Amino acid sequence: MDKKQETIEILKEYNQEHIIRLLNKLNKENQEKLIKQIQSIDFHQITELYNNTKKEIEFKEGKIEPVKYLDKAKLSEDQKIKFDELGEQIIRAGQYAVVTMAGGQGTRLGHQGPKGTFKLDVYGKGKYLFEILTENLKEANQKYDVTIPWYIMTSKENNAETVEFLEKHNYFGYNKNYVTIFTQSELPLVDEEGKLLIGKDFMIKEASDGNGGTYSSLRASGCLAEMKEKGIKWVFIGGVDNVLLKMADVTLLGMAKDKKVQIASKSVVKANPHEKVGVFGKMNGHPKVIEYTELPTKMAELRDRNGELKYGESHIMCNLYTIEAIEKISKEVLMYHSAHKKNSYIDESGKEIIPEEPNSYKFESFIFDAFEFFDDIAILRGKREDDFAPVKNKDGVDSPKTAKELYEKFWNK
Ligand code: UD1
Repeated sequence: MDKKQETIEILKEYNQEHIIRLLNKLNKENQEKLIKQIQSIDFHQITELYNNTKKEIEFKEGKIEPVKYLDKAKLSEDQKIKFDELGEQIIRAGQYAVVTMAGGQGTRLGHQGPKGTFKLDVYGKGKYLFEILTENLKEANQKYDVTIPWYIMTSKENNAETVEFLEKHNYFGYNKNYVTIFTQSELPLVDEEGKLLIGKDFMIKEASDGNGGTYSSLRASGCLAEMKEKGIKWVFIGGVDNVLLKMADVTLLGMAKDKKVQIASKSVVKANPHEKVGVFGKMNGHPKVIEYTELPTKMAELRDRNGELKYGESHIMCNLYTIEAIEKISKEVLMYHSAHKKNSYIDESGKEIIPEEPNSYKFESFIFDAFEFFDDIAILRGKREDDFAPVKNKDGVDSPKTAKELYEKFWNK
């Protein structure tokens, strides 16, 4: 059977006849491109993911317990010194690397382009999110007399623009030899009947597969192997949009080392029951983050005897791993979540359809779903005013306005 026929058989098996019709209309060059793409798609996986969209995600309150944490502000002086020294030793020894997940676009923010290229209006001149992150790492480098290797994950959608931006700004003064940019993978989008969407280029429409793809992309890109070669023992993974993110917090690092855990994370207290953040818990004895989109309202509002939210330790995307943990997770399959979204597509007559209502599913794995592979996690509770000023929404909470206020207040201190 030739490649085209083979491809047609696959499409028939998975009820994607509309793509067979498209294939037959294309010229040879575009046909070959589409055949190559189809051969790279795992149709079995996509079918399963689509079927899962019909199942409700259900959390049984009984199975989930709140998680234990240490409050940074309440550590004894001895404990704090001990953690800080342990953490500092690791960084000074060149055993620490940082990963920034920058695959997202600034859509929710109303920003055109990679989120890291958003300029926050601080101190008159303003600063780009990438610039703020660079400053944080440069400060650590100076303090601990090292250059921390920095890995930046982009998506296929924003890679070229990100590289161009960082080159243009000379990596904001970071030693370029220590910066590695790698790209995450994608998955096809499907409509409400499970049919793959076609894009304007007459190819199957794909989109980033969520930040849980970080681990496997670290492996596939060779970054993990490089880290091991460099003698890296601890890896920090953080987001791109928190202007108070501390990427080299020695207390968190030392605490993780002292507690002999494979994973650790910093949290802050949830601002209110409905803040759009994931919260830590334990499910069947394993650490877990329940995402804001999936936490039932009743659970979100539960309070303990002290009046604190029972599920109030927010995941602020400030996560730490041993290199062995990254290696282990990179070989596992994470679960996927589906998001019902509006996605434009080309219909059978070749016309572009821009939907007004959600018409399709995007599949994403989440970075924190990997926590379930471990028995324990060390959580250090930080402070919102020191650790969490995200730029997510155009206005209101977690917006440029609130981030600017928190950032300037922190640095004026
Ligand atoms: C995220 C967390 C949430 C947490 C909150 C804190 C997830 C799924 N949710 O929510 O638990 O409380 O941040 O700020 O992580 N990214 C990629 N590739 C992708 C998707 C995202 O690199 O395919 C990156 C983004 O660039 C960003 C980070 O992951 O740095 C967070 O993604 P975003 O979609 O903004 O997550 P939130 O909904 O804000």
